[in-house]
Amino acid sequence: MNITTPSSITVQKTSTSRINDVNFDSLEFGTVFSDHMFSCDYKDGRWQNAQILPYGPISISPAAKVFHYGQAVFEGMKAYKDDDGGVFMFRPDENFRRINKSSKRMAIPEFPEELFFGALNTLLEMDKDWIKPGLGNSLYIRPFAMATQVGVSASASNEYKFIILLSPAQAYYSGDVKVVFSEHYSRAADGGVGFAKAAGNYGAQFYPTNLAKEKGFQQVIWTDSHTHEYLEEAGTMNIFFRINDSLLTAPTSDRILDGVTRKSLLKLAETMGIKAEVRPVKVAEIKEAHANGSLKEIFGAGTAAVISPISAFSHGEVTYDLPKQEDSYAAMFKSRLMDIQYNRSEDPFGWRYRVV
Ligand code: COI
Repeated sequence: MNITTPSSITVQKTSTSRINDVNFDSLEFGTVFSDHMFSCDYKDGRWQNAQILPYGPISISPAAKVFHYGQAVFEGMKAYKDDDGGVFMFRPDENFRRINKSSKRMAIPEFPEELFFGALNTLLEMDKDWIKPGLGNSLYIRPFAMATQVGVSASASNEYKFIILLSPAQAYYSGDVKVVFSEHYSRAADGGVGFAKAAGNYGAQFYPTNLAKEKGFQQVIWTDSHTHEYLEEAGTMNIFFRINDSLLTAPTSDRILDGVTRKSLLKLAETMGIKAEVRPVKVAEIKEAHANGSLKEIFGAGTAAVISPISAFSHGEVTYDLPKQEDSYAAMFKSRLMDIQYNRSEDPFGWRYRVV
């Protein structure tokens, strides 16, 4: 990608880098942030005051609408470094398209493409030392937009802030993940905002996820809100089932995020000759496949989670273990995907974007 910093972005560099205070060998996901961030305001009907500045606290009125009505959206992206110091993003055009789709649903004005890519390119160039080479190391990129108009009347804000943060990352989940198939709580409903990366989608999952954690599970796989008979997504990732040698995943809808990793896996499967079915997935068929031995694997796919194997699921009071597979599809897809992301293989799909 050949993008220069638009003249409308002002740049203020930090006088003291914090990079030497960070232990890059033991990072807890999303807790450490790089030296700089991007910020831009929406006011008087246009995005303005675009700036890159040292990472740090910002001042927002406690009456800002985001705090009362959750009018906010976000994205999750990553930058990777190859062994020669080249810096790459993975399908950033998809994240750009999706944040504006999410914004539209949340009545937030769309963000201009030139500013989005200009900001990312400049930030990544400035903070490239925060990206460590080596498979599994990355810089998680968190763009987000929030309503900043002061006032608690329940209507769309007329002022917003768009911010981009960078956070050095390793694995999102350490070790295998055990999940609960939801029988009561729902993540999304038809006509709602499940397809959008709206902040409240995630906040609403915390309570039921805490209940699952108390029982020793890390995540909930959300089921459809009408019947709880169909498996949808895990909130932090889309879900794939391997039945014998075929993949199965739910179709995207109003309720399910159109995940970039999800669609990349479906494309990889097609070119690898692996049959992938995209159709509603019944809880009952997965339990039956477990009983007859045809359920080989379940794994999650997402930007933060990459590809996370699931080692057990529970439904009702029963826990179903999933033994490790010698020829794991999760491991194979992860390796194919990372080879492209880290510039270790050809990229026949044009997914890799060189930044530096
Ligand atoms: C991502 O994969 O980027 C996500 O948005 C998941 C996030 C909630 C950690």
